[in-house]
Amino acid sequence: MFSSKDISDFAELETPFYYYDLNLLQQTLLACADAAKVYNFHVHYAMKANFNPKVLDAIKLAGLGADCVSGGEVSKALEVGFDKRKVVFAGVGKSDKEIVAALNSDIFCFNVESIQELEVINGLAEIHGRRARVAIRINPNVDAHTHHNITTGLDENKFGINSWDLPACAEMLRQSAQLDFVGIHFHIGSQITNLDVYKNLCVRVNEFASWFEERGFLVKVLNVGGGLGIDYHNPDNQIPDFEAYFKIFRDFLEVRPNQEVHFELGRALVGQCASLVSRVLYVKNGKKKNFVILDAGMTELMRPALYQAYHQIENLSRREHVQLANLIKYDIVGPICESTDCFGKEVELPETFRGDFVTLRSAGAYGEVMASNYNLRNEMRSVYTVNELAD
Ligand code: LLP
Repeated sequence: MFSSKDISDFAELETPFYYYDLNLLQQTLLACADAAKVYNFHVHYAMKANFNPKVLDAIKLAGLGADCVSGGEVSKALEVGFDKRKVVFAGVGKSDKEIVAALNSDIFCFNVESIQELEVINGLAEIHGRRARVAIRINPNVDAHTHHNITTGLDENKFGINSWDLPACAEMLRQSAQLDFVGIHFHIGSQITNLDVYKNLCVRVNEFASWFEERGFLVKVLNVGGGLGIDYHNPDNQIPDFEAYFKIFRDFLEVRPNQEVHFELGRALVGQCASLVSRVLYVKNGKKKNFVILDAGMTELMRPALYQAYHQIENLSRREHVQLANLIKYDIVGPICESTDCFGKEVELPETFRGDFVTLRSAGAYGEVMASNYNLRNEMRSVYTVNELAD
């Protein structure tokens, strides 16, 4: 991802910053669009993964829809020009204000996560003279075999409507004059690397689709969510295997004629296109540990502190020394007053010095968007490379 010129250009820049490779982003989008086209699958981008303006621009231009989880994301999607017929709104806690705004914007559909929410949307639609298209988010109790903090499709998770509540849900749909049922929605978790998990999901989707059909509902949309993982251990130019991913759904979903299959991908589209670039502030060599203290911390990239997530760490300033046998083990930490502010323990790097550029790779998804201003940290910047898109 980094050329020698990039690295010499960094000398002029204040750190930390997110460094985007828009070229890689476009290649990834193209690979996804090409693979989806083969089966006529529809892809919505899960905006929560990254809503950097240039990233959104590229995704909108690639023709994807937007999967939103807040009123803020819905209005941002519409503001940057996503087609309102391709905007969906999910989330377990949609406020009345957010629902009304989405009704007034006439988005494609609400992915509804409780029976009470159905009732509220119906009531608000009536008051505001609108109809609401709804898909029922079902919790299928399928294990995604990923980190427990990013698992969403088990009975114990707060997401979706559980199978035992579906009869009451169907009844509510029948009674709700303002609601148009469009289909069923699922999302079982994120950073899924074992694709067999999706076969299990397909089996459940087929069962639930039949359940609704048997009760006289037309299931126009099967939305199977997102979750496709990326390879954090190989960040260089890795484009996820969209073909293999979509093929599973082609092989295992029972798709009726005129039925649409929708996906909500976040991480797989944007994960590899950015790195967090920082400078080394200090190196502390101790008896038990050596520490590299960066000017970036959990306030810029929270994933390691929150999920013990792995991001490959490289010392860009000493790249030519990586082959040396005498690598040193460092704990790579940030400046925040928390012991969890650690990006990696016992990371092997060439001898590292104050002022070196250290980068955390694969930071395009759930990186910049999850930054906080804890410790009143200064605002971070974004830097773009390769084919900058016109504003
Ligand atoms: N659809 C729904 C309903 C979701 O909740 C999510 C992610 C997605 C789609 C997109 O999932 P993806 O394709 O990106 O895996 N902050 C965590 C990930 C949280 C995922 C939340 N939901 C992390 O940094 O790993």
